[in-house]
Amino acid sequence: MKIEPKGAGLGATIHDIDLSQPLSDADYETIEQALGRHGVVSFPGQRLTSEQLRNYASRFGKLEINVANAFYDTGYPEVMILSNMKENGKPIGLSDAGQDWHTDMSYSKTIAFANVLYGIKIPHRDGEPLGNTEFCDMHAAYEDLPEDLKQELDGMTITHDFNKFWEMMRREKGSPRPPLTEEQRQRKPPVSHPVFLVHPITGKKVLYANPGYSMRINELPEERSDAVLKFLFEHQLREKYRYRHRWQEGDVLMWDNMGTIHNAVADYTPEEHRLIKRCQVMADKYFPELY
Ligand code: SIN
Repeated sequence: MKIEPKGAGLGATIHDIDLSQPLSDADYETIEQALGRHGVVSFPGQRLTSEQLRNYASRFGKLEINVANAFYDTGYPEVMILSNMKENGKPIGLSDAGQDWHTDMSYSKTIAFANVLYGIKIPHRDGEPLGNTEFCDMHAAYEDLPEDLKQELDGMTITHDFNKFWEMMRREKGSPRPPLTEEQRQRKPPVSHPVFLVHPITGKKVLYANPGYSMRINELPEERSDAVLKFLFEHQLREKYRYRHRWQEGDVLMWDNMGTIHNAVADYTPEEHRLIKRCQVMADKYFPELY
């Protein structure tokens, strides 16, 4: 395979590899290292069945079955359908997944390593792809933090809550998703994680906070916690950390959920169809004590 970095920041394209075929351990190791280094990697021109997508993704770690997942491929609960398409008047997928800045599974005790998305139908307007996925680089965001803040926050933890993003979608984005049931909330209670994680592939520190799920810095008084989180959310979204994946049909897109945060850009209408299959890879390989 050939790895072509997009530039100095996030992003690389990986050519000359067919993900529908079994890969060697060395291939997986190369992809994993590329993911740590570039944060986001794409494989253009793939053709995958749900089984092949699941088999490819599952070599990186345990696959999560989403707590609120009503939309998965028949026979493959690990393969979630993201789509605004309908069949016989019924939605075939989750139509508004990830439409603001967040990190998948930071609300879970057992955090996520990577996402693997396969683009089947991508909307275009005037020749340009819509529904791009944007990322910010959390290695760089950590590096640039003021030294005194790095020291203040070192060893501290943040509470993350699944319900924060869910309710934001209902309140601010007109999402038709119903409130989480008591049973769903109990299955995903708020959890705490370090403000800074040592990234298991790069060995460097990353900022592990995100506007979607981060609620409170536990060791700080509430007012100081609010002020610091506001600063961190603005800081981590600075333009210089950003990378945007412009989808093409047949892309497999993979990103590292510890070294990046992401946002699914909702710039297409219900008539402009998007269909993506998605697997969520957990970080059990790196943090076995949590699994
Ligand atoms: C997600 O947050 O996993 C969805 C990303 C996308 O649909 O672009």
